[in-house]
Amino acid sequence: MDSLLKVKVIPNGPLLVTGTFEVEKPDGEKEAREGSTYLCRCGQSGKKPYCDGTHRKAGFEG
Ligand code: FES
Repeated sequence: MDSLLKVKVIPNGPLLVTGTFEVEKPDGEKEAREGSTYLCRCGQSGKKPYCDGTHRKAGFEG
């Protein structure tokens, strides 16, 4: 089932979302995403809602 949106929880890191979807930001702006997208789970990214790798420096566990 290729059209199935997949979400993988990366240990101590982001959510890896694979598929086609849309992100709606707090200001209402919508962004189409396709392929692999890493969504921040630690809350420390400077590019929220996307992961920028800061979780490693922050020592995020979860
Ligand atoms: S999960 Fe990577 S910066 Fe937050």
